[in-house]
Amino acid sequence: MIKGGNRLEGNISVSGAKNSALKLMAAAILGDSKSILQGVPKIRDVFTMIEVLNRLGIRAEFKEDDQLVIDPSGKISCEASYDLISQMRASIVVLGPLLAKLGEARVAMPGGCNIGSRKIDLHLRGFESLGAQIDMGQGYIQAKADILVGTPVLLAFPSVGATENLMMAAVKAKGVTIIENAAREPEIVDLANFLNSMGADIEGAGTSSIKVQGVTTLKGTKYRVIPDRIEAGTFLIACAISKGNVIVENACPEHLGMVLRKLRDAGFDIQEQDASVRIIADTRPKAVDIATLPYPGFPTDLQAQMMTLLSLADGTSVITENIFENRFVFVSEINKMGSNIRTQGQHAVIEGVEQIEGARVRCPDLRAGAGLILAGLAAKGTTEVEEIGHVERGYEKFEQKLNRLGADIQKVSEEIKETAKAASEFVGGSEKG
Ligand code: EPZ
Repeated sequence: MIKGGNRLEGNISVSGAKNSALKLMAAAILGDSKSILQGVPKIRDVFTMIEVLNRLGIRAEFKEDDQLVIDPSGKISCEASYDLISQMRASIVVLGPLLAKLGEARVAMPGGCNIGSRKIDLHLRGFESLGAQIDMGQGYIQAKADILVGTPVLLAFPSVGATENLMMAAVKAKGVTIIENAAREPEIVDLANFLNSMGADIEGAGTSSIKVQGVTTLKGTKYRVIPDRIEAGTFLIACAISKGNVIVENACPEHLGMVLRKLRDAGFDIQEQDASVRIIADTRPKAVDIATLPYPGFPTDLQAQMMTLLSLADGTSVITENIFENRFVFVSEINKMGSNIRTQGQHAVIEGVEQIEGARVRCPDLRAGAGLILAGLAAKGTTEVEEIGHVERGYEKFEQKLNRLGADIQKVSEEIKETAKAASEFVGGSEKG
């Protein structure tokens, strides 16, 4: 339940990057000894990945000092079961490490989700180029490779997951692998740095061409995850929409280039420091056009949050979603609050409105859920956001962090809500009676 209208003010600290931590956890499988990860966010997806590793026979657990210890030195199974993969499709990144370490892997096909088909053809074709035999059947991918041999691999699309999976398969391959048209996201660089600290030999991460020289052994290491640029961007937009004044700490401004540019184009005062970004927002946003693109283009994971902000802009904005085929799902929800958004294929036309009203809305997915919560911050009256489990998959202590900045968000469990509704009806009845 979100009471709208409060300005956000103060300092907020960003957690470690979900979309890096999950891959570092998988990459730790490649080590002959245990790794320690620091700065891993305590979010549902991380606990799901801990479960995936445990079921593979790899001990993974948070220690008291928030360090995540992963020990891959025992006997490892090569099968990742359907019930876990279907919970979180990102677990598909265990394929590369299992193939590299055991020479085989049996992983359930990850379903699509409501933002798109989420294919993995680029992953599988890349593994075949490295010499793996891939068979599919009964909803499982069976991958086998007596030996993986380094080779040039050209990705048809700079897929983040495919780049990561192939990098992890190639680190122990025989010879050199070149991944061309590789994804350039900061999370790719984080993974390469982690693997190199284990003894891998990777050059070029962060560019479109990544060179991996195969090595024979990788050892455990200690490593801190980079800050979550999507969480940082979400807080900056939350401040913008509430006309606040906030310093987002433990952030990497250099990972937010296009996001900061678009917020400046929208008229907000953005001040960058080494590890923090300050935003001062005391006006309505100006309309800006956004096209989501592979990094360093505008991140698709902040598209919904920007759509919410631009709903209140002076003028008309156009958002073009180029990464996922169905990422405008939440438009029908936010239009219930009075936004005026029309979608046509990959384009959404957003006519800025004076005010949005609180309403009962439902999260379709993680980032759209964040977008709806941000809408509640600016809406007149109270907004009830349902299915916030999606948001808790990817944001650590989300409502606590926003409330510390002055938001008024209460998590209400279903039964409490039912009781409150019954009580209000009862009181209403006696008055009527
Ligand atoms: C990662 O997903 C992120 N997830 C996503 O964040 C993010 O939106 C996405 O990268 C793009 O930046 C994690 O890191 C866990 P892709 P990923 O492979 O790796 C198509 C969030 O909210 N494609 O770059 O799945 C695919 O269908 C999530 O935190 C193929 O066609 O992204 C999609 O349209 C959402 N074949 C596009 O490429 C393939 O083999 C981008 O996918 C692989 C991908």
